[in-house]
Amino acid sequence: MKGKDNVFIMDHPLIQHKISQLRDIHTGTNEFRKCIEEIAMLMGYEALRDLPLKDVEVETPIETCVTPKIAGKKLAVVPILRAGLGMVGGILALVPTAKVGHIGLYRDPVTCEPHEYYCKLPEPIEQRTIVVVDPMLATGGSGSEAVDFIKQHGGKHIKFMCIIAAPEGLQCLRRNHPDIQIYVGHVDRGLNEHAYICPGLGDAGDRIFGTK
Ligand code: PRP
Ligand code: URA
Repeated sequence: MKGKDNVFIMDHPLIQHKISQLRDIHTGTNEFRKCIEEIAMLMGYEALRDLPLKDVEVETPIETCVTPKIAGKKLAVVPILRAGLGMVGGILALVPTAKVGHIGLYRDPVTCEPHEYYCKLPEPIEQRTIVVVDPMLATGGSGSEAVDFIKQHGGKHIKFMCIIAAPEGLQCLRRNHPDIQIYVGHVDRGLNEHAYICPGLGDAGDRIFGTK
């Protein structure tokens, strides 16, 4: 994992291999969904490496020992609907006790501006480490707005995880929220005239849910 200025790029070969599978137009819904979840788990493994530990006493079959377990702040996963839902299972596989919030946003097809239609976050949000998940960071409008909502509700310790980012979206999210950690599977070339990521993988929500 390469990190600079709170942005961490995943260069692990397993993640890169699976992203290539996602890009392929011939990858069907079932395989696509599975791949999104696996990538989320592999990225989560890296993104959660700073979770605090505390020593606890455990009795092994041989003797009693003091050994570390995850401590401190509780975790919340917050997918941006719809496509972020595909990544939730990957994080829950790592931390099954995490709570799940939801932020519903859709991009207006003409203006590409994000519109909110739902927001429900687990309390007390200010005491949790929050991992916002969305496979795509295109203009960065949806990601920035989702982090705005979480901050307005009191969220403080925020990580943003996306599988593919455009440089424009990354710049926008960093500019609006310089205090959060951003984890990216791959940074692509840029956006086309419809604000789709190139080469990208198409419409992540439609490919996960088999719509359109
Ligand atoms: C997609 C994607 C992001 C957003 C990224 O969602 O999952 O949320 O677009 O674009 P942006 O960075 O330019 O805001 P979309 O609005 O297509 O909704 P969906 O997940 O319901 O399909
Ligand atoms: N949303 C997607 O699903 N794909 C893109 O390329 C851009 C926004």
